[in-house]
Amino acid sequence: MPREYFDNLNGFSLPLDGEWFDFRPVRQEDWKIVQDGMSALSSRSRYLRFFSYISRLTDEQLHYFTAVDQHDHVAWIALARNQPEHPGVGIARFIKLPNQPEIAEFAVTVIDRYQHRGIGGLLLAVLYRMACLKGVQILRGFVLPENQLMAAWLSRLGAVSHYEGNVCRMELIVHADTAVSPAQHLLNLFDEYADKIMPSVSQSPISRDKTD
Ligand SMILES: CC(C)(COP(=O)(O)OP(=O)(O)OC[C@H]1O[C@@H](n2cnc3c(N)ncnc32)[C@H](O)[C@@H]1OP(=O)(O)O)[C@@H](O)C(=O)NCCC(=O)NCCS
Repeated sequence: MPREYFDNLNGFSLPLDGEWFDFRPVRQEDWKIVQDGMSALSSRSRYLRFFSYISRLTDEQLHYFTAVDQHDHVAWIALARNQPEHPGVGIARFIKLPNQPEIAEFAVTVIDRYQHRGIGGLLLAVLYRMACLKGVQILRGFVLPENQLMAAWLSRLGAVSHYEGNVCRMELIVHADTAVSPAQHLLNLFDEYADKIMPSVSQSPISRDKTD
């Protein structure tokens, strides 16, 4: 699937290790899937994501994480087809800073038993592509020092790190021309999976911003 085609999609599906996964924008009715996914996360992964050992999201948090406009707050979810009762395996989002909309804070989470299969990479690739389309120039992630996997991964993608207290702020520059981006590996994922990805074409495709 050429990456340009991805811009007109509302989701896609592909097999990873022989199991089918659906990737699509988050909807408000996903709140239960998101809460289930929270329960399936190890306490360590919850800590690395939320910087605290919370085990459940409040109703307000669930609303905030699912009632997204897909413009200032972009969120995508990955779903396992063969787990209809508890399909959520990963989620990623970015939220533009209200006073600096060219900067967006992002986070990616994949539940432990599905990690290291490429799901996090695909979700971050989606965020990166959506950031290009929505006028975001910097994707900013906050990473705990003990989260060496995330820090090393973002560093390989060219992120610049700054310490803010005991948290590392890591920033990925978003290049529309991925040929000059250290993160081109991310978008190349769409090309790498080209022969496997099945697009789900929507009647209301993701629109490009007028500012593009
Ligand atoms: C970080 C996280 C989202 C990665 O998800 P994932 O589905 O495992 O990611 P992928 O399989 O696509 O791998 C992403 C990168 O991490 C590397 N990686 C993943 N698991 C790894 C492991 N166990 N050991 C070493 N590297 C690993 C991959 O090699 C890949 O790097 P590359 O593309 O340079 O080769 C997942 O580990 C997670 O949810 N962690 C807990 C929450 C968290 O830390 N979120 C980040 C807060 S901003």
